[in-house]
Amino acid sequence: MNALTLLKQDHGNVEALFKRYEATGPDDADEKRRIVDLIIEQLSVHAAIEEQLFYPAIRESGREDAAKLTLEGLEEHHVAKATLAELEKLAPAHERFDAKVTVLIESVRHHVEEEERDLFPLVREAMSGKDLDELGETMEKAKATAPTRPHPMMPDTPPWNLIVGAPAAMVDRVITTARDVVGKALNRT
Ligand SMILES: [Fe+2]
Ligand SMILES: [Fe+2]
Repeated sequence: MNALTLLKQDHGNVEALFKRYEATGPDDADEKRRIVDLIIEQLSVHAAIEEQLFYPAIRESGREDAAKLTLEGLEEHHVAKATLAELEKLAPAHERFDAKVTVLIESVRHHVEEEERDLFPLVREAMSGKDLDELGETMEKAKATAPTRPHPMMPDTPPWNLIVGAPAAMVDRVITTARDVVGKALNRT
């Protein structure tokens, strides 16, 4: 699949989760927890494949204007991951929970809009359809081994994000599988 199509699909899936969250009532703590855990997982994987493959490919292409946008993208990812890491540990009934999710949604929507409106057209000019297809296939495969939890303090550029990303992703999967137990340990419910 074309890399841009794949990323747009991810953006659409996350937007659907945002809408689901916005439709919850004030007392739907369980549903909020479920949705936010899915947002954490999907955004962590999405940010990882952009940072491991998409942004580096753009820098390789030599388009300076596009490369500059990826630097802003990395900073926006960093801020989003910090919020996701807090939400992972916070109980939905906490007075800060809704506010954190609302601000996260606003900033991710802004980031997605900038990627699709400003960055993607430059990428279409800089890379061939064949290159974008190959990149999309590689990103699709990378999803299977990408971190599923946010790591705001981990490196976000190659080679270190690739080196530390693999073992982190394995640990993430164990934690995600044991989420109920971890949730109790974190006292977040
Ligand atoms: Fe992004
Ligand atoms: Fe994105």
